[in-house]
Amino acid sequence: MTRTKNVHAAGARSLRAAAARLRRGEIVAFPTETVYGLGANALDEKAVAKIFSAKGRPADNPIIVHVSDQKMLRRLVRRVPDEAKALMRKFWTGTLTLILSKKSLVPSLVTAGLDTVAVRMPQGLARELVRLAGVPIAAPSANVSGRPSPTTAAHVAEDFPGVFVLDDGPTAHGLESTVVALEPHPVVLRQGALSEESLRKIIPRLRRSSSSRLHAAQSPGMRYVHYAPSRPLILFLRKSSLVAHAKANPGALVLCPSRLSPLFPKQRILPLGDTPEEIARALFAALRTQRRGTELLALAIPRRGIGRAVMDRLTRAATRIVP
Ligand code: TXA
Ligand code: MG
Repeated sequence: MTRTKNVHAAGARSLRAAAARLRRGEIVAFPTETVYGLGANALDEKAVAKIFSAKGRPADNPIIVHVSDQKMLRRLVRRVPDEAKALMRKFWTGTLTLILSKKSLVPSLVTAGLDTVAVRMPQGLARELVRLAGVPIAAPSANVSGRPSPTTAAHVAEDFPGVFVLDDGPTAHGLESTVVALEPHPVVLRQGALSEESLRKIIPRLRRSSSSRLHAAQSPGMRYVHYAPSRPLILFLRKSSLVAHAKANPGALVLCPSRLSPLFPKQRILPLGDTPEEIARALFAALRTQRRGTELLALAIPRRGIGRAVMDRLTRAATRIVP
């Protein structure tokens, strides 16, 4: 891949440069194990305001704060319930975001006026960047609001040509973190890279977010249009209806499990892989595809494990769902 001038291969030098920019109040895009994030010093309102304006993000959609260690976490939150502790022990560093009650140090711009803050301790390079910056880093996914989350540095550069991007290749999971609130009752507010089944092994009473008003208010981000693909996407719940539609629309581009490719001999195909994990990794890039095709056709996968998050993203991205 040819790198544009603002895309920098991740290494000791570029990491230090990115950390210095964050400390100066600038925004920087960086890879996490889930998707690329667009970061700023979470304690600097002016810096955080730059994220909202760059993304065109509604002011009532709060941002996740990334920490590098427990000490940094304790500066931000009032208390850590026992169930949160148990989840952290098992899933941090990693793909779990927890909603905790915030201290006044966290600017209300970050939390969109809520008295809670979303926190996550990412793995590897992202954690190292937060550590080097020495401040908690507020970072939503590094896409213009409404577009699919970026899983490569090139996706970020597409949306934000002027922003400094650390490039560490495609992200490991390809889907955003799973967002869990503990109070008043443990609930998954956003399906993500960490499956509900894994969470429930630690917290059996964990509930799944319904579209109830309570949870809509608890996770404001879920209200908005999301993951808009490069052209209309039709989601098929059954293989037979996908095959029939594809036959009648030879100009469409089929996003499908690799093993089903032989069903579409005359069609342009974008194979996503076969396991739910492979499909998760390939999905957002596929939604951004610039390949020819009048429309995108996708097939539902079972809502189990990571398949639940894949289906959440596909249904949000779809212009139409065909039973
Ligand atoms: O994997 C990820 O989570 C990535 C990487 C960069 O960490 N970030 C990410 O951020 O996906 P974003 O802004 O695209 O999604 C954050 C979600 C939104 O649905 C938002 O409404 C919710 O988390 N959220 C943030 N703060 C919250 C809070 N205090 N209470 C409830 N939901 C919150
Ligand atoms: Mg996002």
